[in-house]
Amino acid sequence: MILGIETSCDETAAALVTVDGEILSNVVSSQADLHARFGGVVPEVASRRHLELVVPVLREALEEAGAELGDADAVAVTQGPGLVGALLVGLSAAKAIAWSRQLPLVAVDHLDGHVASLYLEPEPLEPPFLCLLASGGHTLLVDVAERGDFRVLGTTLDDAAGEAFDKGARLLGLGYPGGAAIDRLAREGDPEAHDFPVARVRGLDFSFSGLKTALLYTVRELGDEELERRRSDLAASYQRAIVRALTGRATQAAEQTGRQKIAVVGGVAANSELRAALPDAAFAPLPLCTDNAAMIASAARYVEAVPWPSYLDLDAYASR
Ligand code: KG4
Ligand code: ZN
Repeated sequence: MILGIETSCDETAAALVTVDGEILSNVVSSQADLHARFGGVVPEVASRRHLELVVPVLREALEEAGAELGDADAVAVTQGPGLVGALLVGLSAAKAIAWSRQLPLVAVDHLDGHVASLYLEPEPLEPPFLCLLASGGHTLLVDVAERGDFRVLGTTLDDAAGEAFDKGARLLGLGYPGGAAIDRLAREGDPEAHDFPVARVRGLDFSFSGLKTALLYTVRELGDEELERRRSDLAASYQRAIVRALTGRATQAAEQTGRQKIAVVGGVAANSELRAALPDAAFAPLPLCTDNAAMIASAARYVEAVPWPSYLDLDAYASR
């Protein structure tokens, strides 16, 4: 049984997963409400909240699984990328637990974690496949030949797809985090009402900053009253542009690599229009799209563990 811990951004999460990929518990405490009034995640606030939440969340994960600390065979934790102060809370907790129980520790890369959200029961996906990883911090197209390994084919040159959703939501006055809010509002709007550009960049890379600027100018031109009237059309058109960029590139990458299967993971994989636009793709289950610790424990199954007690000097990293 693997005890997973994830604290890379604004979700404090712990989970218990078996080596066969069965989820025994998966507890996520989101701090989104705490950061909403700042319009985004405040790193120092996030670290302090992780400190308060990490032990109660761990307790709940054990309780939900009907397990005790002594039942864990390994501790898995996100080492990076993410907010270093936030990561250090999870990493320190993981070291303390593993050291006190003389357990091995598995340091997991957060992006490997997102991909490994596809390997959990009851419907685990088998490589090879082409994977679109779209979250608040990253937008990557990767070729997955086998579990625990991937090759990056393309990435964003500026904002991540989730970041584009969040910044767009802010311009539309929808609060933070904005992806789910745009998703909801877009259902009532006309996606063809506004023609937002899909950036053309070379290769298999993405760019979303031009789209955000186009929305900014449109919102400014419309003024407050018109914005109020057209908010759902703007949300629908803006979402359409992001979804087009993602699906276009994913399909292109699948063609180039000859991969038959496309998979989508990360917070943006929860988007209903994206899910509808790629009906044949494998999407991470909804609760496993946004950050969680089950995916971290899942990824740990394909990473070499660091034996007790040589992991005590492991450090967190901000970027890959
Ligand atoms: O994977 P995640 O929880 O955190 C990172 O690793 O970054 O992704 C969070 C991102 C946020 O930008 C959020 O707005 C976006 O995922 N998101 C969505 C939806 N739900 C969450 N974006 C579009 N549609 C959604 N339904
Ligand atoms: Zn993530």
